[in-house]
Amino acid sequence: MDFAVSNRPLEKSKADALIVLLSKKSDLPEALPDSTREHISQFMKAGDFSASKGQLGWLHAPQGINAARLLLVGTGDSPLSDHSWLSLVQKTAKALTAAPVKQALWLLDDAQPQALEWQVREGTRVVEESTYRFDAYRSNPAPASKLAKLTFWHAEKDAALAKAHKTGKAVAVGVNLARDLGNLPPNDCFPEYLSGVARDLAKDYEKLTVKVLSQAQAEKMGMGAFHAVAKGSERQGQIIVMEYKGAKPTKQGPVALVGKGITFDTGGISLKPGATMDEMKYDMGGAASVFGSVKTVCELGLPIHLVAVVAAAENMPDGRAARPGDIVKTLSGQTVEILNTDAEGRLVLCDALTYVQQKHKPHTVIDIATLTGACVVALGAHAQAVYANDDALSEALLTAGKETGDRGWPMPLWDEYQSQLDSPFADMQNIGGPKAGSITAACFLSRFTKDVKWAHLDIAGTAWVSGGMSKGATGRPVPMLTRYLMNQC
Ligand code: BES
Ligand code: MN
Ligand code: ZN
Repeated sequence: MDFAVSNRPLEKSKADALIVLLSKKSDLPEALPDSTREHISQFMKAGDFSASKGQLGWLHAPQGINAARLLLVGTGDSPLSDHSWLSLVQKTAKALTAAPVKQALWLLDDAQPQALEWQVREGTRVVEESTYRFDAYRSNPAPASKLAKLTFWHAEKDAALAKAHKTGKAVAVGVNLARDLGNLPPNDCFPEYLSGVARDLAKDYEKLTVKVLSQAQAEKMGMGAFHAVAKGSERQGQIIVMEYKGAKPTKQGPVALVGKGITFDTGGISLKPGATMDEMKYDMGGAASVFGSVKTVCELGLPIHLVAVVAAAENMPDGRAARPGDIVKTLSGQTVEILNTDAEGRLVLCDALTYVQQKHKPHTVIDIATLTGACVVALGAHAQAVYANDDALSEALLTAGKETGDRGWPMPLWDEYQSQLDSPFADMQNIGGPKAGSITAACFLSRFTKDVKWAHLDIAGTAWVSGGMSKGATGRPVPMLTRYLMNQC
């Protein structure tokens, strides 16, 4: 869908709907013609609309403007927090896309604390995300939303606003790519399919190049942990490396993203129970967010040097699958006793983390993974866990999350947790027991990230919505990651 900004006189601006945010306390927006305000007042006096927070009201054939209807959005009586602003916009977008509205005009709200630039950027993103459908596997998909254009209106011309809607749209495009990849069924979305996604991206964007290591190459190179997971499947594991050069490489090195790409996680020989196992198709959510972020970065042409690695494999029980008790040698040289084959994410990630450090010497590495059920217990669906060996990096990610409503929450990486990974037979074991499961998983990864700023996002609770008809991939944390990268520029 298209977005624009405009300051043409409202009386002359034609639209199927004009969106106006109204609070209980302040006067009706001055930008509206007197007769429109009078009409809204009557509507409110008649009791049809009180502007309570989250209330939506349609007013047809409004006086004084060239719009077929008004969509009034109540903001209640207090200034909105960023988070309630975003959920209000989400609700508004839902109403808009369900209505016979092709062209919508949005009166920007000076009365709210959020900067107009932020409103346009995040508003664009939320509306574009709300038009998302995943219909590829339906014989009779529901008709698509009619909404084709949204124009943000403000009395003064402002170049920053035009840039803001482009940014918001590019982030939404990345989010929606991540959702598509997540929602694809695991019989179609397997490691080699993901390699194809990377190659297609490289065809679309000049600054992006792709290199794929086959499972055999990864094994030969010494990625024993990655190989232990990949070999249990008929589907070939893939180490997918994308390099984006939006700026000349410097001595400092690139920033690197590393995504867990388990296209299906049965648990392996430590087989998972059957109920909701289908949701383990989302176990490539970290990889999906890496692809989505790369897409956004390419769309925006950000002036950065970025390396993105996806460790793609399918975790299956098979005659060749790894067993509990197997000891493998990682690319770093450290050995791991695999006590539970269902703790496979850290096994594929540790070798990808070592690989990217050896080959690309990044200054910062961020890995993203649907790593532990324990993270869902700790934080639920509202925040991803943020671990980092560097306070500034942690803070930067948390800030980026706040700015986009894609929130994270800091978690500890204290040494005291490390001993839970002690093995009687190898340098470490791949599980840390029942306590603090998300933290010990992060501690495991920390052993593969020396001399680099490193952060780990456990997105097990945020990457998808589970159960029911609203089940589906969220595309998180593309907003957080891309905001972080933009803030670095
Ligand atoms: N992909 C899962 C984590 C997961 C489970 C995410 C449920 C979201 C919902 C991961 O590979 C896994 O199975 N982790 C195990 C680790 C355990 C064996 C130490 C877990 O969390 O149970
Ligand atoms: Mn698992
Ligand atoms: Zn997994």
